[in-house]
Amino acid sequence: MAKTYRTAIVGATGAVGLKFIECIEKRKFPVGEVVLYASEKSEGKVLHVNGKPCRIVGLRPERVEKFDFAFFSAGSGISKQYAPLFAQKGAVVIDNSSAWRMDAGTPLVVPEVNPQDIWKHKGIIANPNCSTIQMVVALKPLHDAARITRVVVSTYQAISGAGGRALEEFENEVHAMEMKTTLPKRTIFPRQIAFNALAQIPQKDAFLPNGYTNEEMKMVEETKKIMGDPSIRVSPTCVRIPVKNCHSESVNVETQKKLTAAEAVALLKKAPGVRVCERPEDFPTPAEVSGMDDTYVGRSARTGRCPMASTSGWWPTTSSRGPRSTPSRSRKSSPRNKSVRYGRTGSAAGGASKRRRPPLFLSFRAASPRGRGRRPATGKGR
Ligand SMILES: NC(=O)c1ccc[n+]([C@@H]2O[C@H](COP(=O)([O-])OP(=O)(O)OC[C@H]3O[C@@H](n4cnc5c(N)ncnc54)[C@H](OP(=O)(O)O)[C@@H]3O)[C@@H](O)[C@H]2O)c1
Repeated sequence: MAKTYRTAIVGATGAVGLKFIECIEKRKFPVGEVVLYASEKSEGKVLHVNGKPCRIVGLRPERVEKFDFAFFSAGSGISKQYAPLFAQKGAVVIDNSSAWRMDAGTPLVVPEVNPQDIWKHKGIIANPNCSTIQMVVALKPLHDAARITRVVVSTYQAISGAGGRALEEFENEVHAMEMKTTLPKRTIFPRQIAFNALAQIPQKDAFLPNGYTNEEMKMVEETKKIMGDPSIRVSPTCVRIPVKNCHSESVNVETQKKLTAAEAVALLKKAPGVRVCERPEDFPTPAEVSGMDDTYVGRSARTGRCPMASTSGWWPTTSSRGPRSTPSRSRKSSPRNKSVRYGRTGSAAGGASKRRRPPLFLSFRAASPRGRGRRPATGKGR
């Protein structure tokens, strides 16, 4: 009889937890018994896994059992407290929160990029931030071929990344605006999200003294750890847009070694987990690629002339990525400092390196609230 794995999902009722269940079913992950944990308020609710009813168990320390795998998505506080408890009982914990990502003893793994790091785990394997994942999948082949020195990325992040209640808040706002009624009281987003764009991720305590947000610094630090190269400078601007599912990114990449646009596209075409859409009518949009696992790359082009190599791109993908086996690639480092650039194909990173000051933000954060639209809301519902 084929081996099966006793599996726990912690945060099973959330946007990510439900995606875990969907992935387990879709990929025919060989689960044996599944135990679904959530907060105590969800205790007793029933969800289905592979057609079988599973009652939600309210999470408490004394209810931690022995599992083969435990998938965590209940926030970083819960992961900090409970992931070690599950690991001590023998589970391999795959944690979707930010709790363990930058912990030196915890591998941070994207299967297409650094699958070999999985074997360094001591019970917990961290899963990166969703915007980082889709970016590094496309950066990896370019880095291997031409050594990326800098990435400048702007994100267009879907609401699903802020959780199930954020999606509800968005839908309620859209409904209220369409019905021309008073906007409902906000509990998730600090400002209106319907028909708007917010350069503030996460919703609370986003801004750091260096001018970046928490989400942006995750992209900076996680990229270095996953790619195994602390010298890559990353400059992100993360923006939440009123799209339900599937993040997009515009990426500008500078490389040390000369790399033509055609070469970059050729590399991306061969890269695991990447799909290149070259014809304008095929350029990916979030609505069209939502639910797919790959990173879709479109609108690759040469950027303006500059002394450094630079490629930019556009790549939407979904957050339902899961494991896939990928052979690791050897890195060809480049000795020369040649310049190349492409256009629109990926995400960019920019650097909060020790040597350089972070760049000025000139895009969304500097946008004037004056203009034709309504005044931005001040935080509370109207
Ligand atoms: N790595 C990635 O790509 C990625 C993407 C999106 C989100 N995330 C991370 O995943 C986590 C969950 O995100 P989400 O969007 O799924 O959020 P969500 O929709 O708000 O769901 C939160 C889940 O956590 C559970 N929970 C809350 N408090 C709990 C407690 N005290 N004990 C046990 N369970 C508790 C909730 O249960 P109830 O329903 O009972 O409240 C729910 O199942 C966050 O850490 C987020 O940052 C990661």
